[in-house]
Amino acid sequence: MDWYRIKTSFIGLKRLATLSKEDKQACIDGYRFFQRMQAGEETKTEDETQAVLDYYKVLNNMLAVFDVEKLYIPPQLDEAQGLYGNQMLIEQHVLQQMNLKDPENSHLLDMGCGRGRISYHFATSTGGQVSGYNIDANQIESAIDWANECEMNDQLHFKVGNHHDPLTYESDMFDACYSFGAVWPFFKKEELDDHAKEMYRVLKPGGRYSCSEYLLTPHFDWNNEEHANLHKVFLPTLAATHSMYPADVCAALERAGFKILTSAPSKAPAWPLCDQKRDLVTIGRKFIRALEAVRILPPWVEESLDLLQKGGDAWRDAEKAKLADLNWRIVAEKPVA
Ligand SMILES: C[S@@+](CC[C@H](N)C(=O)[O-])C[C@H]1O[C@@H](n2cnc3c(N)ncnc32)[C@H](O)[C@@H]1O
Repeated sequence: MDWYRIKTSFIGLKRLATLSKEDKQACIDGYRFFQRMQAGEETKTEDETQAVLDYYKVLNNMLAVFDVEKLYIPPQLDEAQGLYGNQMLIEQHVLQQMNLKDPENSHLLDMGCGRGRISYHFATSTGGQVSGYNIDANQIESAIDWANECEMNDQLHFKVGNHHDPLTYESDMFDACYSFGAVWPFFKKEELDDHAKEMYRVLKPGGRYSCSEYLLTPHFDWNNEEHANLHKVFLPTLAATHSMYPADVCAALERAGFKILTSAPSKAPAWPLCDQKRDLVTIGRKFIRALEAVRILPPWVEESLDLLQKGGDAWRDAEKAKLADLNWRIVAEKPVA
């Protein structure tokens, strides 16, 4: 483990240990809210967004402890590499799909940018600008701190923003936009159009949207009890609120004016990397139990890890059965008028 990883884990542990009572309770309530959603409760989008925010505020620090600083599990494109190496590979693929004409003078939009580390990767790869927004001020703070530390404030721009509000960027501003597990899992089907239209508005003509996103596969059947039961267990663990089919998302993008260039399953499964992280969490739980015993960490951290592991197991079963995909690929283009 290098110094950067040790430091990130330490900061994550410190932030977890010093979370306010309200934040901790809100995180637990957020997870319970997801579970009630899966049990069939009707919920309003603003309450879902609040639950996501409360949950991610804690989850992002918890996952940083376990070396998942970019909050998504990539496809295992190269067995010889771990989670981070495979994240870099899928990110390079998504970047290539954006087909930038002049990378150095490009400006990209990272939707649901998390802690800004993908934005950093793309800004260093292209030499251009990346703007990112995210619902969680805590993650945005980490992104801004990182941009400062790397002295890349002239290339990286982060702010708090919500997919469910109009985007706070000018029209025709970006050469491309992208997302990694951060957009479609937070929308009800009838809400997809509004966001697709906003994406279309902020892109320059000829600009592309490229992603690696959690979506159901066409094999998933809501009327199949086994499928529905697996979904109930894994969705709260993905910290997602909704599951869309690729066809729903593509239809919304087309209605907004996009031309769909690709809609395809991930090139490799993510479950081997989920399994690796599960093993790491198992070891970490022993350590966390010890910290709880001496009251350095509160007992709910261990409880949350237990839920994460159970959801991870359900996810592996669903992915192996090809019912859902963590890295479905969509590439869409705003036509030149
Ligand atoms: C699975 S994580 C992926 C984060 C980031 N793309 C990365 O790879 O590190 C999902 C992200 O979506 C963000 N998010 C969820 N709902 C959102 C919303 N309504 N508006 C903006 N961001 C949102 C979460 O805070 C979280 O950072």
